Amino acid sequence: MDPLRTVLVADILVDADGRIAALADPAARAPAQRSIEASGLVIVPGLIQAHIHLCQTLFRGLAEDKPLLPWLRERIWPLEAAHDPDSLRASARLGIAELLLGGTTAILDMGTVHHTDALFEAAAETGIRYTGGKAMMDTGEGVPGGLLETTALALRDSDRLARDWHGREGGRLRYAYSPRFVLTASYDLLRSVGARARANQMLVHTHASEQRDESELVRERFGVSNIRLLANLGLAETNACFAHCVWPEPDEFDILSSGGASVVHCPSCNMKLGSGIAPIAEYLDCGVNVALGADGAASNNRLDAWEELRLAGLLATLRSGPSAPAAADLFELATIGGARALGMDVDIGSIEIGKCADLTMLDLQRAHAVGPDDVYTRLLYSARASDVRLVTIGGKVVVENGSLKSFREAEAVADAEHQRALLVNRAGVSTAG
Ligand code: GUN
Ligand code: ZN
Repeated sequence: MDPLRTVLVADILVDADGRIAALADPAARAPAQRSIEASGLVIVPGLIQAHIHLCQTLFRGLAEDKPLLPWLRERIWPLEAAHDPDSLRASARLGIAELLLGGTTAILDMGTVHHTDALFEAAAETGIRYTGGKAMMDTGEGVPGGLLETTALALRDSDRLARDWHGREGGRLRYAYSPRFVLTASYDLLRSVGARARANQMLVHTHASEQRDESELVRERFGVSNIRLLANLGLAETNACFAHCVWPEPDEFDILSSGGASVVHCPSCNMKLGSGIAPIAEYLDCGVNVALGADGAASNNRLDAWEELRLAGLLATLRSGPSAPAAADLFELATIGGARALGMDVDIGSIEIGKCADLTMLDLQRAHAVGPDDVYTRLLYSARASDVRLVTIGGKVVVENGSLKSFREAEAVADAEHQRALLVNRAGVSTAG
């Protein structure tokens, strides 16, 4: 995914700092302290998902068949309010296991309101490249008492978490201010987040214009459309990630293409919650940076970047016909587009000298993937998470032979099952969905 989209057969030499030192002719057999045999595999930049909720992995299947606002009020928020540090850690580790096994190496995560340290601890331990932050909620209809905070407290706790975690693990962990969405954030909160993001060059992460009802409610309540409201409060000029953006107004495209904000496309969540098809070809045509994300396991129900890529391609064709973006352009959503959204494109998003060795290696010599000469067509439409054999993050091997190296999948699954039962009990929700 370099600017020329170079495809080559090469040895990738990684230095002691975990960065790519050279792309060398394999015939030269450069000496190395450790070699990984990857002949026959396709090596791509580690995939980036710029909108995830690790806190919702334990809710998989517990919130089926509801549109956004009832889904949040009746299921997601009561479940989030029932989290304790142990259930949140289990939810994060289960999600990270799935992400790493599928070749996702970097995420932007929205936490719940409390226990955010448990998310960073899980990210630190498992090796994933993690940008995250607590969800900030200081107002809103249907928000349970357990999630509602004062503006001052939401800001104070976010500032404390940013101080404690931003830049840790050699820069692998980063903080993002994360007001949940405009329906649960006061103007004061949103303005203060914008000011902090500008002063400290930090990322803002929120949801925008996901569902038609939600977008209409925003206009009714505030007299202005969702993305314009975020812009008016100073959030579109910062490095910001706006998840979904399914229902932009015609005059909002300019806001997105001229500021610092990126759109994060979440195709399977948009289908599962019945939100609609985001206008991705139109965004790309007018120069908006677009990234990709699975959202959470409560609205997907997987965290599989390959499925999101394939659906992004299928939906773009369904919506835009022959003018849909090409496979290589859509592959950017999960690589360099995601890196730009996170403000990390100097470090990740492509295989280039000087960048971090975040690499995903796939075996595409499989019945479902043999055929297309164009590697991007093969990656976008045929590759599956189970084709991923080896994954490195900053040069460290986190998946080898299709198995986790940094922690044990079976342990993460068992702990998740145990914590899920306790959580469901605490929340008092039925497990029938
Ligand atoms: N809008 C506000 N909160 C959420 C959330 O948790 N998930 C999704 N998909 N949309 C939201
Ligand atoms: Zn979301």
